[in-house]
Amino acid sequence: MRFADPKYTMREDLKKILFHESTILSRLDELADQITKEYMGKELTVIAVLNGSFMFLSDLLRRIPLPLRIDCLSVASYHGSTKSSGVVEFDQVSLPDITNRHVLILDDILDSGLTLNAISERLGNLAPKSIKICVLLRKHKTREKPVEADYVAFDIADEFVVGYGLDFMEHYRNLPYIGVLDETIAEKAMCASATP
Ligand code: IMP
Ligand code: MG
Repeated sequence: MRFADPKYTMREDLKKILFHESTILSRLDELADQITKEYMGKELTVIAVLNGSFMFLSDLLRRIPLPLRIDCLSVASYHGSTKSSGVVEFDQVSLPDITNRHVLILDDILDSGLTLNAISERLGNLAPKSIKICVLLRKHKTREKPVEADYVAFDIADEFVVGYGLDFMEHYRNLPYIGVLDETIAEKAMCASATP
């Protein structure tokens, strides 16, 4: 069992590294500047979609020197696999008060579009002044639901990625970089359906 091997670093489960930590952080410098200019003097509420956006949230927002509010939502559309279940479930009973506020939704990745479509529809019903979407990654693919991201840190190919908040079966979120998961890991996990 490879988790028990003291030399195991998670890196060996990746086919390749796409973005090193330094690349991510310098791109966030640029994105934060752009967002700061756009929202200067406006009542901004950032709504982060957990768990996947937790690293992105903290690295991006510490680069934005504006008096903003932060709220988090948790939803699930992937249930332990690399394929979307197609159902978006909200964990919150009550949503944040965003009436008359400018809302920026932060998410880890725009994939099928189901999650961000459901969230922006739901928040759109709460009378915000505006809603924009900011994602760390945007996959190049045809989406099941039409969603346009207003701010994108990186565009990527349609591959399953992990690290920097993104998981496969709740693992790899703590990697400080982003990489493509080796297909054999996903295949083995599907057979064992316990840990990757
Ligand atoms: P959606 O398919 O656009 O609704 O994305 C739903 C969620 O699936 C994202 O917020 C991620 O948490 C997860 N997801 C989609 N693609 C990937 C991936 O390549 N790696 C890890 N998680 C992913
Ligand atoms: Mg996930």
